Amino acid sequence: MKKLSELIIEKNKYLPLVCNGNGTCGKCKVRIRGCDPENVSELSACEKRMLHKDEQAECIRLACQTYVSDDFDIDGVEILSSEEDISTGDYDEITGCSRGKAESLCIAIDIGTTTIQGALIDNSGNVLEIISGINHQRSFGADVISRIDSAARGYAVKLREIIVSDLNVLITGLLRTVTDKEKVGRVAISANTTMIHLLLGFDVSGLGRYPFAPVDLAPKFGSGGAIFTDKRVVGARVDFMPGISAYIGGDIVSGIYYLELDRRKENVLLLDLGTNGEIALSTGGSIYVASTSAGPAFEGGRLTSGVASIPGAISGVTITDGIRVKYETIGSRTPVGICGSGMVDVVAELRKNALIDKNGTFTDENMTEFAIAGRIRVSQRDIRELQMAKAAIRTGVDILLLESGIKNEDIDSVELAGGFGKNVNPVSMVNIGLIDESLLALTEACGNTSLLGAIKYLVRSNDNTGEYDRLRKIVESSREVVLSNHEDFNDRYLQNMWI
Ligand code: FES
Repeated sequence: MKKLSELIIEKNKYLPLVCNGNGTCGKCKVRIRGCDPENVSELSACEKRMLHKDEQAECIRLACQTYVSDDFDIDGVEILSSEEDISTGDYDEITGCSRGKAESLCIAIDIGTTTIQGALIDNSGNVLEIISGINHQRSFGADVISRIDSAARGYAVKLREIIVSDLNVLITGLLRTVTDKEKVGRVAISANTTMIHLLLGFDVSGLGRYPFAPVDLAPKFGSGGAIFTDKRVVGARVDFMPGISAYIGGDIVSGIYYLELDRRKENVLLLDLGTNGEIALSTGGSIYVASTSAGPAFEGGRLTSGVASIPGAISGVTITDGIRVKYETIGSRTPVGICGSGMVDVVAELRKNALIDKNGTFTDENMTEFAIAGRIRVSQRDIRELQMAKAAIRTGVDILLLESGIKNEDIDSVELAGGFGKNVNPVSMVNIGLIDESLLALTEACGNTSLLGAIKYLVRSNDNTGEYDRLRKIVESSREVVLSNHEDFNDRYLQNMWI
């Protein structure tokens, strides 16, 4: 017998294993035609818990919990993933850029743990195209730790192949209106340290254990041919945004560079709440940085009905009279699940309506979940996931403030990066205690700062190295605070679990 999820991935089909096959996320649902007990294992206890009775009757199974015989016919399996594969973006998401003409072309890429995004730009920074897609490495878990574990289990080459293939699909989309005669001169790639290591085929084992030693935080400039197959890109020079440490990568350096935190006089807090929560605090030129393993809740990972910030994701929720639910979805599409910003709203609204207490526990002891729309629901475990993510981030902010010697009241602006930052309601952030009340009016979304930094770098640097030196200075002058080593971390974390 073989695990069905492994069989599906071996056949190069995409299956999101958000909880790394632990049977807790419910994201690997498949429908098996026939479901012959001769060839398919019985429902496990975990499947009985995770799957509705009507799903069980329809032969819907969790691929990570199901075993099939060696002669099982994989063609009879339908993958029930609701994720949109690739989508075009909004030009206004890229602040300060407008549509321009294809002259000398450059491509900026952000490789996130969940999604990837690319922008085709001309030399003046005019955006010609933006494309987003899924990072299909999600078949090996939602967070960087799962990817590092998978690489250690012998899947490093597979992980590299997956991201190289995703990037080539992205490039094809970006260049769809570009003629064969035009060439891309430069590419800049921004990503966290694990993503860059996997892309470049570096050994990631050092990233997963103390002293968390990367192979190289500032990889040398490369040639497009090492990653891309499109002949318009193979001759491009590829730059990588340099990182600070194993868990403070080039993505956050790119964000600091984009927002000019190294030059601004005021106190600015940057929150990039992806699968890995990254925090930067600048206090008149000094930069403090930290990362927290907040878990993937802010990206919809490990939630019963969680999805990334994709079209159809429920991104905003209000509850009135304790039962009436109103929601909005990204792109006003039919709801497919709930993303991190929607989850922040749900928890804030459940608390406001006294449906959960300060501990985050349902006040009605018969209640195990709260229905949002159709089968989309929020369970007690989902609320705990969000509480843990919230506590990790809030504790990170508290400790950076402590280390820098300033208070919440001294902060001049809070920049919220990424899809979560764009969709989240700051009032709900305050209501669940993710940020202090004094920051409410100062909070603004700043877009995908990892991608924006890469765009800015391409436009400013051209061929001289001055801008790369500036990135290097940001790396050298930023002070990393390792939260797990901080004496106040545990006490504050427990306190910050309260809602
Ligand atoms: S990957 Fe199967 S339940 Fe999470």
